[in-house]
Amino acid sequence: MSQIIAMEYAEDRLRLVDQRRLPGSYEFFECRTYRDCAFAIKDMVVRGAPAIGAAAAYGAALAASEFSSLGAAEFGPAMRVALDELRRARPTAVNLSWAVDRMACALDKAIAGGTGPGRTLYERLKAEADAILADETARSERLSEHGNALIPDGAAILTHCNTGSLAVPGPGTALGMIKAAHRAGKGVSVYADETRPRLQGARLTAWELDREGVPVTLIADSVAATLMRDGKIGLVVVGADRIAANGDAANKIGTFMLSVLAARYGVPFYVAAPVSTIDFACPSGDAIEIEERTADEVTTIEGVRVAPDGIHVYNPAFDVTPAEYITAIVTERGVLRPPFAEAIAALRATPGAGEGVL
Ligand code: MRU
Repeated sequence: MSQIIAMEYAEDRLRLVDQRRLPGSYEFFECRTYRDCAFAIKDMVVRGAPAIGAAAAYGAALAASEFSSLGAAEFGPAMRVALDELRRARPTAVNLSWAVDRMACALDKAIAGGTGPGRTLYERLKAEADAILADETARSERLSEHGNALIPDGAAILTHCNTGSLAVPGPGTALGMIKAAHRAGKGVSVYADETRPRLQGARLTAWELDREGVPVTLIADSVAATLMRDGKIGLVVVGADRIAANGDAANKIGTFMLSVLAARYGVPFYVAAPVSTIDFACPSGDAIEIEERTADEVTTIEGVRVAPDGIHVYNPAFDVTPAEYITAIVTERGVLRPPFAEAIAALRATPGAGEGVL
C-alpha cells in the first residue's frame, strides 16, 4: 500500500488532505495565501506536530510571494506579521515555531545577501520549506526503524490520537514504528482509542492502519484501563507535540492518563518524536503552553449536539506526561532512556543537535 502524501506544493499553492473530512471523504484543501495556511492549521485541516510545522513553512513562502511587489521598507514588517500569525496558529506543538523560526532565518539570510522582495526571494523560501518537508520525512523514516526494534513479535499495542502519515511527513512517529513492525512481519495488532473530542483515533488512525493492513481494534477511550488490567496490552506508544529538556512530554489530551495506567500495570510506555519536537530551552512540562479549544468540540459530535445548550466546558487539547512515566523516547537519532535530562543534554551536545530546537 502506497504511503499517504498529506501535503503537496505545486504551482504556487499548498494542497492539503483535508483531515476534517476523513474518513468519510478524501478531499483536498488548497492554500493560496499564508492566511489560508494559518486557517488550515487552526481549524485542523492539517494537524500533527511535524505536519503543521511543514505547512507553516509553505505559508511563509506564500507570504513572500504575496508581498513580492512591496518595497523593501514595507516587505520586512509585512513578513513579520505573517510569520507571527503562522507561529501563533496553535501554541503547543514546538515544531510549528521551530519551522517558522527556520523560515525567518532563511529570510534574514537572503535579505542580508542582497535579495530583495520578488520571485527569487520567494523561491529561496519555497526551497527552505521543501527542505523542512524532506527533513521531517527522513526523520520519521529513521525514527520508525529505531522504534521497530523495541516492538516484540506478536505485540498488542495501544496508541492514542493520530501519529501516522497524516500527522507527519513520511511514515509517522508512533504509527511509523507500528507500520515498520507490521512490514517486518512481526504480527503486531493495535488498539486505537477514539481520542475524544476530535476523534483522531477513530477517524484517522483506524482508517490509516486499516488501509495499511495492520490489524486494528477501535476502542472508546475509557476501555484502556480494562485492557491493561486484563494483560491485553504489551506496550503503549504515542507521539508528542513538545518534549521538555527533562523529558516531560506534551501530547494529545488523554496521554497522561494512559501513562499512569501503564505505570500501574507495568506496561512499557514509549513516546516517539523527532528531535524537532524537543524544546531544549523548555526546562519542564510546567512551562509548556497548553492550547484550549472551543466548547463545540465537546458539546457536539460530527456536528450533532450532545450536551445541553449553554453548558460550561473545559477543553484542553493536550496534557503533559511526566518523564517518570515514560519508559523511553524514540527519536531519529536513537532511543533515549532515563534519566532523560541527561540523555537530552547529551543529544544537544552531540553533532547534529542543531536539527532540534536549541
Ligand atoms: O491536536 P492534534 O491532532 O494536532 O494533536 C496531535 C497529537 O497530539 C499527536 O499525537 C502529536 O502531534 C504527535 S505525532 C505527530
